[in-house]
Amino acid sequence: MDKLRIRGGRPLEGEVRVSGAKNAALPIMCAALLSAQPLRLSNVPQLMDVRTMAKLLRQMGVAVEPAADGRMALQAARISEPTAAYDLVKTMRASVLVLGPLLARCGQAKVSLPGGCAIGQRPVDQHVKGLQAMGATIAIEHGYMHATAERLRGARIVMDMVTVTGTENLMMAATLAEGTTLLENAAREPEVLDLARCLGAMGARIEGAGSDLIRIQGVASLGGAEHQVMPDRIETGTYLAAATAAGGRVRLVGAAPEALDATLEKLREAGARIGIAAAAIEIEASGRPKPVSVRTAPFPGFATDMQAQFMALASIADGTAVITETIFENRFMHALELRRLGADISIQGNSALVRGVERLQGATVMATDLRASAGLVIAGLVAEGETLVDRIYHLDRGYEALEKKLSALGARIERIS
Ligand code: UD1
Repeated sequence: MDKLRIRGGRPLEGEVRVSGAKNAALPIMCAALLSAQPLRLSNVPQLMDVRTMAKLLRQMGVAVEPAADGRMALQAARISEPTAAYDLVKTMRASVLVLGPLLARCGQAKVSLPGGCAIGQRPVDQHVKGLQAMGATIAIEHGYMHATAERLRGARIVMDMVTVTGTENLMMAATLAEGTTLLENAAREPEVLDLARCLGAMGARIEGAGSDLIRIQGVASLGGAEHQVMPDRIETGTYLAAATAAGGRVRLVGAAPEALDATLEKLREAGARIGIAAAAIEIEASGRPKPVSVRTAPFPGFATDMQAQFMALASIADGTAVITETIFENRFMHALELRRLGADISIQGNSALVRGVERLQGATVMATDLRASAGLVIAGLVAEGETLVDRIYHLDRGYEALEKKLSALGARIERIS
């Protein structure tokens, strides 16, 4: 199994190109199921999760042609097998995003229940409830959701909580439903808006995406389209947090600063100086960061996917910070690993009290999920001596060429087998 070896203590200097957003690319790839015509994408990140999604779609009969330059063509001329089997769904929960499109296009779908996950229970009841409101019959048998519907009908759906993939699944299903669907308490994440833009280019009639009330007027069929995937705001935020922790001066090009307000504000609070241009962010930092407390919330609040990186930052801050996680009930696994590097963190329920220490010391740590791994890498960049991050397959799921990008900024980081 691959590991990352990091020798900490160097500031980061230089330029990094931001990749396309994983969490936009995955639902957008699923949108290809809604049409017999080709969907041509650009700025698709080269990631394990994207390859897993391509595999899943191919199993259903979708032609998927990725190219090395981030282009990808998908065409679901015919769907031979509207099924998502357990072996892929268990490795990537976003597989559940095929449920809505399959049901809308084929009138049936068989999708494995995702089961538990390292960061929390993550049920899919809102996806199911919404599709049932649109007229689907869904039975759970032998670990699978068996969904059928003659033709989905538009409905008013009030979601019990803000769910990103839930909103995306229902929005996709509604594009081909008969009549109008209203999604209330919808997720406002920028990735939902990017998906809506792609669906719009395919001929869907969607209003209000990016707000908490989305109105979808169903159409009889969707066509082909071209779409450029938005930049990854979590990848961007991760490099910004790394630069704030390690110090130095970094320019991120191809970024979407408007999707990063909450993160940028917190980094400024930590003492970083940030400059913003149309599609670039420049950051400069030196010395120990100031302590910043964060509380995760749905967009436009502080993203749960940035929480671990900010805990790493707080670990070396000049003071005490409180990190509160409100989205996932078990998303503090990285705290125990950060402690192995010398961090002073105590956890009470969904809050972590982080007393910044002068310096961390390198050690072997284990990645437990994607963003936890990113937090450990940041800690490794500032720790004294050598840090080995084990189980980096988590990082490969969601960060394109992480060690190459960090090396280009002067970090001493290498992949070892
Ligand atoms: C998406 C992101 C993930 C991010 C998360 C929160 C993708 C592929 N993944 O995950 O990176 O961390 O949003 O921003 O976009 N919930 C239910 N019932 C449901 C659905 C959700 O109870 O049917 C709960 C979850 O357990 C969680 C909360 O709602 O506590 C939010 O989860 P959700 O927004 O659905 O996360 P994902 O869409 O899975």
